[in-house]
Amino acid sequence: MANVTVIGAQWGDEGKGKIVDWLSERADVVARFQGGHNAGHTLVVGDKVYKLSLLPSGIVRGTLSVIGNGVVLDPWHFRDEVAKLKGQGVDITPDNLQIAETCPLILPFHRDLDGLREDASGAGKIGTTRRGIGPAYEDKVGRRAIRVCDLAHLDDLGPQLDRLTAHHDALRAGFNEAPIDRDRLMAELREIASFILPFVKPVWLTLNKAKAEGKRILFEGAQGTLLDIDHGTYPFVTSSNTVAGTAASGTGLGPSAAGFVLGIVKAYTTRVGSGPFPTELEDATGQRLGERGHEFGTVTGRKRRCGWFDAVLVRQSVAVSGVTGIALTKLDVLDGFDTLKICTGYRIGDQTYDYLPAHAQDQAKAEPIYEDIEGWQDTTAGARSWAELPAQAIKYIRRIEELIGCPVTLVSTSPEREDTILVRDPFAD
Ligand code: IMP
Repeated sequence: MANVTVIGAQWGDEGKGKIVDWLSERADVVARFQGGHNAGHTLVVGDKVYKLSLLPSGIVRGTLSVIGNGVVLDPWHFRDEVAKLKGQGVDITPDNLQIAETCPLILPFHRDLDGLREDASGAGKIGTTRRGIGPAYEDKVGRRAIRVCDLAHLDDLGPQLDRLTAHHDALRAGFNEAPIDRDRLMAELREIASFILPFVKPVWLTLNKAKAEGKRILFEGAQGTLLDIDHGTYPFVTSSNTVAGTAASGTGLGPSAAGFVLGIVKAYTTRVGSGPFPTELEDATGQRLGERGHEFGTVTGRKRRCGWFDAVLVRQSVAVSGVTGIALTKLDVLDGFDTLKICTGYRIGDQTYDYLPAHAQDQAKAEPIYEDIEGWQDTTAGARSWAELPAQAIKYIRRIEELIGCPVTLVSTSPEREDTILVRDPFAD
């Protein structure tokens, strides 16, 4: 298993950026395989903070980075993010960054539609990042998308554009919006094409060659398993498959490529956007977790909802993503609590469950069944070995392992990359 696939095992924001950065130093290639610039990956390297949304985190260290076909790409955002990182001294060229030819483009009217629909949805709103992710994936599946490879064939776009605008103009009319201005769109595409095209490659070929040469590939997931379009808390999910299996289909490799699946798990639970959250704490304890954990969205700045650790949900994520081991993050946020709670099951009406049922109404009614566990008063922040952890913190970790049925591979004790306790090297398997 030379490869490692990193995925979020909760609702995103588990701290994937730091772990991917930490692993990318030993990877030969880092690949994004789903999502788009709805992600927010923060990397702290020395005294510099890098915020990435679309580019694979490996780019900061100069590792060959690829954006796979499973990603939806906003070309203008891509240009801005490249410029921002270059401004921070990161070297980005077509030699170290590749975009798959088959990525669907996120276009300005996708962003408009995302916002218009959210505004019109009242209590049913999903709380999306409003970046056009959902509408772009809809066009991909609807076989109307303009893809990255089309940027090299803009003069042949006519029939595709007919299908796309016929669909969107009907939708826009319902929102009292003007039809798509095709001339303007073509001019915008012509303008951005020259920036994007040098990065465009048959990424599936690059990755298959890398695999054949025994190179180590790191797959960087975005969002989290509970936001997966099939396995998440539907409809309050993103529009892609966020599970580890997508590492293969979202890049053009076979299913065995995923290798060691590292699930990133926060020591408590957070969620941004609408949707069920059984262990949510809307009280002073939730407030305390949010303040100590600096729980504000990287992309939208929204305050994240916070709650106790939910072992049922993580166990479910471990199962549907085939997680080999977990990286436990932000343990230090739990320092100083007298008692901690872990959710071990749900009560819905007069029935108990050891998994989250699929229906949104059941999910909304799920009441957590808690187990209390004694907290610790010493700090775990910055610990780099088990010996530096309070005994109760180790008990908390061991209990989590038992409940989710998966071992801890590493523990992250601060945003600093060196503040990490390594139990098992995922690349060594
Ligand atoms: P979308 O991906 O913008 O369509 O948003 C759908 C849902 O996924 C919303 O609840 C968002 O808050 C959530 N979401 C999307 N990306 C992220 C992320 O990177 N971290 C956490 N939540 C996310």
